[in-house]
Amino acid sequence: MPLHARDDRDGRRQLHLNAFLMDAGHHEASWRLPTAPPRAAFDLQHWIELARLAESAKFDSLFLADGPALGGTGEFRPPGQLEPLTLLTALSQATSRIGLIATVSSTYNEPYNLARRLASVDHVSGGRAGWNIVTSAGTAEAANFGLDTRPSHADRYARADEFLQVAKALWDSWEAEAVVADKAAGRYADPARLHRLDHRGRHFAVAGPLNVERPPQGYPLLVQAGSSEDGKDFAARHAEAIFTAHRTYERAADFYRDIKARVRAAGRNPDGVIVLPGIVPYIGATEAEARALAEELDELRVPAYGLRQLAAVFETEPDDLRLDEPLPDPILARPKLEGAQSRADLFIELAVREKLTVRQLISRIGGGRGHFELVGTPDQIADAITAWFEGGAADGFNIMAPSLPSGLAAFVEQVLPILRDKGLFREEYEGTTLREHYGLPVPANQFHRATEDTA
Ligand SMILES: Cc1cc2nc3c(=O)[nH]c(=O)nc-3n(C[C@H](O)[C@H](O)[C@H](O)COP(=O)(O)O)c2cc1C
Repeated sequence: MPLHARDDRDGRRQLHLNAFLMDAGHHEASWRLPTAPPRAAFDLQHWIELARLAESAKFDSLFLADGPALGGTGEFRPPGQLEPLTLLTALSQATSRIGLIATVSSTYNEPYNLARRLASVDHVSGGRAGWNIVTSAGTAEAANFGLDTRPSHADRYARADEFLQVAKALWDSWEAEAVVADKAAGRYADPARLHRLDHRGRHFAVAGPLNVERPPQGYPLLVQAGSSEDGKDFAARHAEAIFTAHRTYERAADFYRDIKARVRAAGRNPDGVIVLPGIVPYIGATEAEARALAEELDELRVPAYGLRQLAAVFETEPDDLRLDEPLPDPILARPKLEGAQSRADLFIELAVREKLTVRQLISRIGGGRGHFELVGTPDQIADAITAWFEGGAADGFNIMAPSLPSGLAAFVEQVLPILRDKGLFREEYEGTTLREHYGLPVPANQFHRATEDTA
């Protein structure tokens, strides 16, 4: 199978689409829409409906974000959700083909337990699991794990690097060929194919082997979502798919070229790493109708919420930000941050480029936290997607509907047919696993080679 290049029958490169699901929608005020289910986050039927909608549209995958802490105070937006691997397991039984990706923190988990949880999701889903590896940029998480302060940006990525090395070795430690199940001889497995790691590193000491058979995909699909220097270097070593946020084609194309070059420099095939920027589509039969939808949501925002979110990213207090003034100089001076570096950069660039006040800035990021917001007709949305895809800025997209389920349904019914007419998106699933949807091979087992050589 050629790496990644998802081609149609005529060898035409095709889009990868991931449905980024978030309770009532990505717009921070979506839960206030008259039609919105305000308690969607804990309603399994709501999630099953969304998963089945995305699968019916032949999306490569769906994605659940996460952070091991309450998201904000809960006053102005639903702050919690179901634990994502638990929810993915339930969704795996309500679907049969769509890939199932969830965020799990590498800072607030241990490799052995997480490796077996992800391996188990891959087994129960028939090879459809994906892991979005995040280092958890917030301060709230640290307080839930006995830490007075959040580990530094560099330390979080260093830990994540070792975490991945250990997790991959654990998934490889139980070779698929280990089980012989010889009832006559009473021999279940070949111990020579169950490998101890005896890993001792700066962050972890893990004996192994894992107590779960090698996942059907070898490893769950490895996704990453940090765009800082550390983030990009980590992605170049480990990521198979990259989630990223950019407001302009130019920024997205720069990132695309940069990350592919880093992957090549890390000795990997750039075609084996799929870049998926996020887009937030506001769709209307006319541009005016689409704008009206965006304005309806914008009017439902509570500025105090946006102000708090912005202050958190800039690691400052909401009181330090004046709504009707530009961002203060200390922030424009871009101090080194220990949290979400690339997101802070994106917000500053947007505010400076468009000369925005704080009030205008929080309105501009209220719909998708800085991702590319598209307001227009289905043709205009499809054209913008085509331009980024064919212009070397993306291998596909994270579809972030501002409201759910209505926004995703509109994209599926109105935009996908246009992309299919252009031959840019699949009509049917060819494969059954997440890796097959993304055109990625099952990784070789680092121990298997050794066992063969000694056999
Ligand atoms: C599409 C997308 C999804 C993300 N999902 C999560 C998430 O579920 N949990 C989380 O803590 N961070 C999430 N992030 C944030 C990243 O993990 C990271 O903190 C942020 O991109 C800043 O990374 P940097 O410091 O390397 O620039 C997401 C980012 C993107 C672009």
